Amino acid sequence: MSGVADRVAVVTGGGSGIGAACARRFAADGAAVVVADVDAEAGERVTAELRADGMRACHVACDVAVADDWRRLADTVRAEHGRVDVLASNAYAMADGPAHELPEDDWDRVIDVCLKATYLGVRALHPLLVAARGNVVAVSSVHGSVGVPGFPAYAAAKGGLESLVRQLAAEYGPTLRVNAVVPGPIDTPQWSRTPAEVMKAEAERTVLGRFGRAEEVAAAIAFLASDDASFITGTALPVDGGWSKRW
Ligand SMILES: NC(=O)c1ccc[n+]([C@@H]2O[C@H](COP(=O)([O-])OP(=O)(O)OC[C@H]3O[C@@H](n4cnc5c(N)ncnc54)[C@H](O)[C@@H]3O)[C@@H](O)[C@H]2O)c1
Repeated sequence: MSGVADRVAVVTGGGSGIGAACARRFAADGAAVVVADVDAEAGERVTAELRADGMRACHVACDVAVADDWRRLADTVRAEHGRVDVLASNAYAMADGPAHELPEDDWDRVIDVCLKATYLGVRALHPLLVAARGNVVAVSSVHGSVGVPGFPAYAAAKGGLESLVRQLAAEYGPTLRVNAVVPGPIDTPQWSRTPAEVMKAEAERTVLGRFGRAEEVAAAIAFLASDDASFITGTALPVDGGWSKRW
């Protein structure tokens, strides 16, 4: 695959799960990776591991819902790398409960971290992405197109994110490509407190009968970010083991 060698990739939420796998994949493919995570300890840990393995990575503390944090991140990356080729917009927040019981603050937080953050990131990095003729890969969820009771803000944010991806692709083509991956159940720390029977049911809901691995989502992100996907923009690629295809 003609990957991201010698390019600069920003990965939000790169301190854990899919983001950490994505950071490792980009770095292994030869990119310099900027891990943008609100959890400084997690971000530093992931980047230290990559550097210990001879890869190029640094952490920039960033709450993706905060415009000033994006401005600082853009300044830092411009100063240290002079370019950005890829933005993997992956960080997320979750709040569960039916809409009539969901506190307004929780609604706002989920929408801000899962949806507004991609707008803020593209806005802050736009000059750098355009200069590099780069691309954006946003991480959505099967919740963006299927109603699963208990996650109204998350579903709205992810549905909005896929719409935003189409919009940004139309807006910024042919200079920038903008795509999404749409994971189903993926074995990451966000499932760590889920009861075993719920995990089993979730795995059985997929066609492939199992949870996906973070590395499998990272591989799809790496593909969309690479020149091998040079004629793909505005799409949302399911990485869900068939979860969304099963009745
Ligand atoms: N794991 C799954 O089953 C699954 C399924 C569908 C979609 N997804 C999507 O995949 C993405 C990654 O999920 P994951 O399971 O790897 O999560 P995770 O909990 O393992 O990691 C999320 C990371 O995001 C960081 N983060 C949270 N809020 C942030 C903020 N405001 N600013 C910066 N960083 C922040 C956290 O510190 C953490 O490092 C999310 O967009 C999620 O919606 C995951």
